[in-house]
Amino acid sequence: MKTMLRGKDWIETADWSVEELETVLDVAADLKRRFSLNEAHRILQDKTLFMMFFEQSTRTRNSTEAGMTQLGGHAHDLTPDKMQISHGETPKDTGMVLSRYGHGIAIRNCFYKVGNKYIREVANYASVPVISLQCDVDHPCQTIADLMTIREKFGTNLRGLKVAASWTYAPAYARPLSVTQGLITLLPRFGVDVTLAHPKEFYFMPHVMEKARAFAKQHGTKFEVVNEMDDSFKDAVVCYPKSWGCHQYLDDQKVPEAERKNVGMDLLGKYKSWVCSEKRMKLAKKEAVYMHPLPADRGSEVEDAVIDGPQSIVFDQAENRLHTVKAIQALTMGGRP
Ligand code: CP
Repeated sequence: MKTMLRGKDWIETADWSVEELETVLDVAADLKRRFSLNEAHRILQDKTLFMMFFEQSTRTRNSTEAGMTQLGGHAHDLTPDKMQISHGETPKDTGMVLSRYGHGIAIRNCFYKVGNKYIREVANYASVPVISLQCDVDHPCQTIADLMTIREKFGTNLRGLKVAASWTYAPAYARPLSVTQGLITLLPRFGVDVTLAHPKEFYFMPHVMEKARAFAKQHGTKFEVVNEMDDSFKDAVVCYPKSWGCHQYLDDQKVPEAERKNVGMDLLGKYKSWVCSEKRMKLAKKEAVYMHPLPADRGSEVEDAVIDGPQSIVFDQAENRLHTVKAIQALTMGGRP
């Protein structure tokens, strides 16, 4: 077990070894047990985390802030408009200054081709650990909670278990690619076979696909890509359908910034049948579960009967966001000197 994680940034799960990720899961399970017993676990007494949200959030914001409170510390809830970022202060200066005041910096910045770079730039100059609360490439706080949830349901030996990571239709807004990109780069390292399904225009960043293929090869797991939702659901044990935008396609096609929203919406409209329905869930194994990171676009991405039905584990997933982020905070901001 690798335990000396104090000061380590949490930006992509791919930056952490399997052994280090096992430590996160182990500590998360311990903190979950202690929370359920109402047992004090003030591991980060009087420590401060600065949370910077460039986008909205319910789960990430509240699990991260509640996590700091429960660990005995405090989290500042910041947005760019409350900071000099809105007047152009650089990630370097922001990272260096916040490092002087506290013990960790957590950032959500999902802007396409910007977010990951921004977070890594802050981390480069910060002298405290930087925790990604989601970027354009990965959502490591979500996927580690998803892995914890899958292991709670199916055990720690996941070899041969099929996960259907499928795109879904959702007209509300173009979501980042990062949750599912994060899943395909994490789950194959833990023995899981992943089938990724998406309409042809909704593909991922090439370097992420390369990483997912390399991890699958290294860990002897299957990773395949299909263009039909049904093909991914067949014999799946975990159905994880969610929406994302066609950011990479629009970029490759050099669609002007001002036209991207309309072009993206027109493309979305071609795939309204990509819904997680009760009928589709029947293609999966009898014991299959339905997962979604939330917020879900009910009625477009998923039928109420599925998300509210007996196969849904979305609220267990959401709960584990708390226990896993606390493990990340405790290990990176506390831990051994
Ligand atoms: N799943 C997730 O990250 O949710 P929020 O956007 O509400 O944080």
